Amino acid sequence: MKDQEKSGGIVILDFGSQYTQLIARRVREFEVYSEILPWNSPMERVFESRPRGIILSGGPRSTVGPDAPGIDPSMLDGRVPVLGICYGMQLIAHTLGGRVERGKLGEYGRTRVTFDPPDASAMIKGLPGSIDVWMSHWDEVVSLPAGASRFASSESGACAAFSMADGRVQGLQFHPEVQSTEHGCEMLSGFVFDICGATANWRLGDWVGRAMRGISDAVGAGDRVVCGLSGGVDSTVAAVLVSKVLGDRLECIFVDHGFMRKDEPAQVLDMYGRLNLRVRHVEASGRFLEALSGVTNPERKRKIIGEQFIRVFEDEARGLADAKWLLQGTIYPDVIESGSAGGDVIKSHHNVGGLPEKMNMKLLEPLRELFKDEVRRIGPMLNIPEHFLKRHPFPGPGLAVRCIGPLERERLDTLREADAIFVSEIRSAGLYDSIWQAFCVLLPVRSVGVAGDVRTYGETVALRAVSSLDAMTAESVRLPWEVIDRTARRICGEVPGVGRVVMDVTGKPPSTIEWE
Ligand code: XMP
Repeated sequence: MKDQEKSGGIVILDFGSQYTQLIARRVREFEVYSEILPWNSPMERVFESRPRGIILSGGPRSTVGPDAPGIDPSMLDGRVPVLGICYGMQLIAHTLGGRVERGKLGEYGRTRVTFDPPDASAMIKGLPGSIDVWMSHWDEVVSLPAGASRFASSESGACAAFSMADGRVQGLQFHPEVQSTEHGCEMLSGFVFDICGATANWRLGDWVGRAMRGISDAVGAGDRVVCGLSGGVDSTVAAVLVSKVLGDRLECIFVDHGFMRKDEPAQVLDMYGRLNLRVRHVEASGRFLEALSGVTNPERKRKIIGEQFIRVFEDEARGLADAKWLLQGTIYPDVIESGSAGGDVIKSHHNVGGLPEKMNMKLLEPLRELFKDEVRRIGPMLNIPEHFLKRHPFPGPGLAVRCIGPLERERLDTLREADAIFVSEIRSAGLYDSIWQAFCVLLPVRSVGVAGDVRTYGETVALRAVSSLDAMTAESVRLPWEVIDRTARRICGEVPGVGRVVMDVTGKPPSTIEWE
């Protein structure tokens, strides 16, 4: 944390809200560096990068419940501005002697709040007197700490915002970071710039130059680097960035597990070639299918694929005995979720986990401080084609987790063909870029049909199209009927073995985006 651009940013203390990453991304959209730290980080760590402000996130706990996460009260002395959001606001009130109680009903979803007085906080300067905001809370601040003044109330009369310490400590009961809150970005910007006085100096163009210098300094002259390419955005951006610095000293290994979409391996290899990456293509589908023979349990499938991937990669990398570095496309959410930033482990990432130690290699992770949308924005600066960067997210185990039941070559081909038809119809309708993910799932469910007077007994394809901001939650997309109808007719007519097409209309929650 020595970079100039990182000092003077905003620290977000994470109390477990599903929106914490969104707060950090919003701040970065203002070109101000933001970093997420666990709520219980030591004070020296919180102030290490000399932040201009601190945001306390929301969270699932109650300040009045047992073992409620708390903060050192000295953080709220006004020397560094603090904004508490939802749980963060209740925590400020609770810590400074106000009272928080379990509300009777709670407030969930879109709620109207009224500002009064309208000029009470720099965060609401110039906003209408009353706006719709996104609420998600049960507890309420029923009495404010001494010296605090309320400046927003919800329709139920509950306190929706307060300000204290000459405006340097602020609390919002609602979530300004979510899209459903009107003027949310303006409120956050008011905090970041007007209250904290932060400077907009986090520029991705500058970041690229800095990252390249960092790679050049870290990797010793003559050292070689090896990288596993998956065909995805993160590993591609990481590899191109490093190859711009090291040229042929970067050796890439592209493991084709056989679960990619139609024509995908050829397309990505062609692109890697145009980007001047040195890539070893390993066609390993036979090995993967053999290891997965008869396996239908989703978790077993994922585990076997992960293990096979490591074995294949290891076999290939053995020939590169002098490679001292392993390059990985780890991005900031992976760092946060895997607990490396100091938080709880949500899910462990194991792209090629365990390999660096085993093969005595050092890890090179140039993207570890970037969010996904930042990685996508860097792509064009490295001449990576826009259409590749805009592709829908695709899971590491690929079609294996969309082919329910046994993984057989024929069934995978069926799924590939159906998927290609659906995506081409979505593209033709001009909908591709506005949808988060659209794909097919092959179900091992046979049903009776009729085609040209002949009885058929084919499997079922489910269509799934979801909208989402960050894959944490998702909604089913209301596709035009003509698109669904054309897709269903084409799949049944053009893909042998499919007898029925159904539409998955569930959101996340309760369902996940993928089926396995
Ligand atoms: P779920 O199914 O959990 O998916 O709602 C959320 C998002 O993550 C993607 N996904 C994966 N991505 N490796 C990945 O790189 C995986 O194993 C994996 N599983 C799910 C999924 O496509 C969606 O965008």
